[in-house]
Amino acid sequence: MPDTLALSQLAQAARAARTRAYAPYSKFRVGAAVLLDNGASVVGANIENASYGLTCCAERVAMFAATAQHPGARIVAIAVSAGDDTHQHDSDHGRMPCGACRQVMMEFMPEDAPVWIDGVGAMPLSSLLPTPFKLRTDI
Ligand code: THU
Repeated sequence: MPDTLALSQLAQAARAARTRAYAPYSKFRVGAAVLLDNGASVVGANIENASYGLTCCAERVAMFAATAQHPGARIVAIAVSAGDDTHQHDSDHGRMPCGACRQVMMEFMPEDAPVWIDGVGAMPLSSLLPTPFKLRTDI
């Protein structure tokens, strides 16, 4: 379980990552940062597409990048910060991660891992998705 300092550094990284969003369509910027059990952290931001459905959320960009860059490492915490272009310095309080990202979190994080959400605080992943879909029984 990451300590308070590690979580607050992760929160700052997620806020900073909002500037990296590619969001010309929604103009809604989301930053995410994940902490790994090897001590590394990886950031992500939402990446949109002219074919809207191809958009990928910041949380998944961060988790997929971390998984590709650190094979075998486990994600132990994630921080998310969201806002639109007119409020780039004040996070849009209480923007919760979407359901798809919660399911992906369940794949790569322990179910009691902290999910820090700007304006909300940290909560265990299992409280955000109490009944995830499970295919494998060995993880
Ligand atoms: N978005 C995220 O990055 N994370 C979420 O959990 C929900 C939504 C992005 C996708 C899209 O670029 C924009 O926010 C508006 O839906």
